Amino acid sequence: MDLKLLEKLTQTFGPSGYEGEIRAAIREEVASLGDELYVDRLGSLVVHRRSAAPQAKKLLLAAHMDEIGLMVTHIEEKGFLRFTNIGGLYPLHHIGGRVRFANGLIGTIYVERREDRSQAPQLKHLYIDVGAKSREDCPVAVGDPGVFVGSLVQQNGRLISKTMDDRIGCYVLIEMLRQIQAPAYDLYVVFSTQEEVTLAGARTSTYRIAPDIAISVDVTLTGDTPKALPMAVELGKGPAVKVKDSGMIAHPTVRQMLIDAAQQADVPYQLEVLQGGTTDAMAMQLVREGIPSGCLSIPSRFVHSPSEMVDEADVENAIKLLVATVETN
Ligand code: CO
Ligand code: ZN
Repeated sequence: MDLKLLEKLTQTFGPSGYEGEIRAAIREEVASLGDELYVDRLGSLVVHRRSAAPQAKKLLLAAHMDEIGLMVTHIEEKGFLRFTNIGGLYPLHHIGGRVRFANGLIGTIYVERREDRSQAPQLKHLYIDVGAKSREDCPVAVGDPGVFVGSLVQQNGRLISKTMDDRIGCYVLIEMLRQIQAPAYDLYVVFSTQEEVTLAGARTSTYRIAPDIAISVDVTLTGDTPKALPMAVELGKGPAVKVKDSGMIAHPTVRQMLIDAAQQADVPYQLEVLQGGTTDAMAMQLVREGIPSGCLSIPSRFVHSPSEMVDEADVENAIKLLVATVETN
């Protein structure tokens, strides 16, 4: 594991719509790894790696670089901030946690005292304290976006951090670009914007590239924690080849392509049927006249919390699987 790279990826600011810093960080890493590099009109970063094979098909691989976060909607007289969600937020995951704004300012997220606690708190019951003493004194403005705080920890073969969703996918694609020698495909690696809100970056970048095949690389849930929704995916049992999620059915040929690559690379894999959630592949398959699309998932616990957990071997095996996918026709 290149922990320094993963630390940089997970800790760099980049909520949906505000991907400038994370894009610059990824750009530094991939600058020398492609034949062509560009940023498209909605901010996705694209690395194009040509194939020596004549008439090679175009393969697009995408990981989203945006992250969930929040946005300030209102500042109260005493300086407390109210906020709305950027992407999927669960109030229970954030009470007592911290938010970081673009300028580095930290706030504590907490919940109002509620008379009736039989129901889970909603976002409207939460507020942020940045230490301001009044509205005038508050160094944050309405419309400012923030991200959650959670450092990277490596322990017992697991990795814990904020924003594994989907910086672990960005990590896998950067490592893959470092390792591939002779791509059998005309390869486009996309670090997409706004996945957590509208899938906008994936949709528009795919239109310009017009690939023959598109694959997203993202996290998926697992069924291996106490009273989890039953699901066949477990941490440490290999990357998961998506069969279906709530936004798409993976194209059978793309699904098979990933399974064949797993067998060729001799890495374990799991089949994924995800009942809640989707990825960039949902948007990519609907571009132009339709793009056969699929997804390779990194199993993750505690998704959309500040402490998302993945297994190191699953990450390494996802890289091997994708290298085999790209190098084999
Ligand atoms: Co997500
Ligand atoms: Zn994601």
